[in-house]
Amino acid sequence: MPTSDRTFLITGINRGLGHGLALACLKRGHRVLGLGRASADDLESQPNFRFARADIVDAGPCAASLEGLLHGLNRLDCVILNAGVLGPIADMRDQSTDTMKEILEVNLWANKALIDSLLSKNLSITQVVAISSGASVNGNRGWGGYSISKAALNMLVKLYANERRDIHFAALAPGLVDTGMQEQIRALPDEVPFPSVAKLKEARATDAMPGPATAGQLVLDAIDRLPDLIESGTFADVRKPPLNA
Ligand SMILES: NC(=O)c1ccc[n+]([C@@H]2O[C@H](COP(=O)([O-])OP(=O)(O)OC[C@H]3O[C@@H](n4cnc5c(N)ncnc54)[C@H](OP(=O)(O)O)[C@@H]3O)[C@@H](O)[C@H]2O)c1
Repeated sequence: MPTSDRTFLITGINRGLGHGLALACLKRGHRVLGLGRASADDLESQPNFRFARADIVDAGPCAASLEGLLHGLNRLDCVILNAGVLGPIADMRDQSTDTMKEILEVNLWANKALIDSLLSKNLSITQVVAISSGASVNGNRGWGGYSISKAALNMLVKLYANERRDIHFAALAPGLVDTGMQEQIRALPDEVPFPSVAKLKEARATDAMPGPATAGQLVLDAIDRLPDLIESGTFADVRKPPLNA
């Protein structure tokens, strides 16, 4: 069961799922350390919230922000690597390698730098959860750079798990969440040749696509159960066994 003295580090807390996760943690009495390009007023007003500004792609400044954020702490109960970008929805031939590299900078390499920075500190860490996606395994048409970045993120997590048996690592697909990312998908014309886009448009305002606040609670529940349910270093989807059982 969650206890009220747990400390969570979450990236990308100003909006979307990260904001919902931060709210869910604070509601349970946890301490939240937020790292990202912007904060949120409703988080800033809470005593258990601390924020440091950083673009996670800028490794040096980000490490300095992290240092300040962790000042005085010797334990992190959970690190949630949430910040991410979608990039264009387009066929592979229409996504340049430069565009894909930009997506991987955020979704993959920034997370490696963050993990390395955290592991280099005199800090006890219990759990690391990288927010992945069903796109990391399903290879749907149009999701090129994003799918590649999340598949690589799954492997990143596995590799760290093999090195650090004392920390439980997981790559977690949070299910569909009605955020800016989904708005980006809904803005695509209906005629695009990507079947998953129509499915996502249809899922809006249904139970299959909760808003960030509801999703934050569901995903936090799943995060609590991950160490008991899956082997460290593996991928799980909140919509599938063993998490939906
Ligand atoms: N929504 C879904 O249905 C869905 C499904 C599967 C997986 N996910 C994953 O869930 C996570 C959250 O996505 P979301 O749906 O909440 O998207 P979102 O609403 O677009 O939010 C993305 C978050 O990431 C932050 N971010 C992006 N690039 C950053 C950078 N360079 N440095 C610092 N922060 C950065 C954003 O901050 P700024 O405001 O500064 O850009 C924002 O806080 C992502 O990893 C995404 O891949 C989402």
